[in-house]
Amino acid sequence: MKVPAASIYFPPEDRAAILSQIDEILQTGQLTLGKYGRQFEEQFAAKIGVKHAIAVSSGTSAIEIPLRVFGVEGKEVLVPTNTFFATPAAVLHAGGRVRFIDTDPATLSVDIDHLRTLIGPETAGVIVVHIGGIITPHMDEIRALCDAHGCWLFEDAAHAQGSIGPSNGHPDGRSAGTWGDAASFSFYPTKVMTSGEGGMIVTNDDHMAEEARIYRDQGKAGFLTNFHTRLGNNWRMSEVHAVIGLSQLARLDEFIAHRNHIADLYDEGLPGLPDITPIRPPDNGVSCDYKYPVLLPAGVDRGAFKQRLREEWDVACSGEVYDVPCHEQPVFAEWRTGSLPQAEDTCARQLCLPISATMTDDQTRHVLKALAAVLSEQSVASPR
Ligand SMILES: Cc1ncc(COP(=O)(O)O)c(C=O)c1O
Repeated sequence: MKVPAASIYFPPEDRAAILSQIDEILQTGQLTLGKYGRQFEEQFAAKIGVKHAIAVSSGTSAIEIPLRVFGVEGKEVLVPTNTFFATPAAVLHAGGRVRFIDTDPATLSVDIDHLRTLIGPETAGVIVVHIGGIITPHMDEIRALCDAHGCWLFEDAAHAQGSIGPSNGHPDGRSAGTWGDAASFSFYPTKVMTSGEGGMIVTNDDHMAEEARIYRDQGKAGFLTNFHTRLGNNWRMSEVHAVIGLSQLARLDEFIAHRNHIADLYDEGLPGLPDITPIRPPDNGVSCDYKYPVLLPAGVDRGAFKQRLREEWDVACSGEVYDVPCHEQPVFAEWRTGSLPQAEDTCARQLCLPISATMTDDQTRHVLKALAAVLSEQSVASPR
């Protein structure tokens, strides 16, 4: 039985509807910043429960734009080391300085104790990334910490469309993207919902929303003017991408429900494999289950483990989040201030089990069987 790492799902009726809307777009010639982009923004804002959503070209520009609005030039921004390249890179592109935060092995998010030691008069703002869709249970504390230090808080929610995190005074939790002064989402094809390429900025702050719209369109004061007031860029989302995003947004709850079901099957099966440590959302939290990360026991060679799963069982694991922490990436060497031991350990031992909106129960059971078999093999023992 073959189990792919992920799958991108457009049911036939959705493909037909998307094609008919693209045909309409081609006929009208309204190819960018039109009615579908506005609809996508309105519906996404309603889904997250925020006042404004601004559609942009990527999850990367959805980080850089708010950072430019915050005005990070020459200032220090605290960034988790366990994140994708784009998070610290956006800080640097916006002219900021990066200070890396160590990782909480329980959530793969920031270690709040380490964050407390770093935040200070030098700090302009803090970025939190909801890795794999899991929101740390410390979001309220992080918000309070930022307020106490006069810092802004930004959530890189690239992985977390529809994730819910625990929060005091919110018995049903809060959506990813609602703690920060602004937050970003990515609609890259592997994500829980996609627009092909694309991203979204969300915020309750009118000033942030207004500025973000200026930055995304070459820093122009208005769509029809040629008067540039900010150092913006072409960070617009086309109408074709907006149509695809709208279609997937209508399926988001369904996609998440299916992913949660697959994750439940893993939750039931993995206690039978005590050497494997699943990383799961906290009580009262719901992950969109973009990823199902686990930690392998120390002493297992991850490369050999994945190879055996692939070759012997036809099981492909999805990419780790992440295998090399940012402070160990050559491109960020200048910003490395020393070892971040928890990140180094969790990144070295992490594996993401296959999960998708189309995965079957049989495929999930096959993965569990494959894990048990490969774990018992001598050949995956680390050469160290
Ligand atoms: C945590 C994180 N931030 C930002 C991005 C950038 O998103 P995009 O690829 O849409 O530019 C990604 C993309 O995978 C990501 O995983």
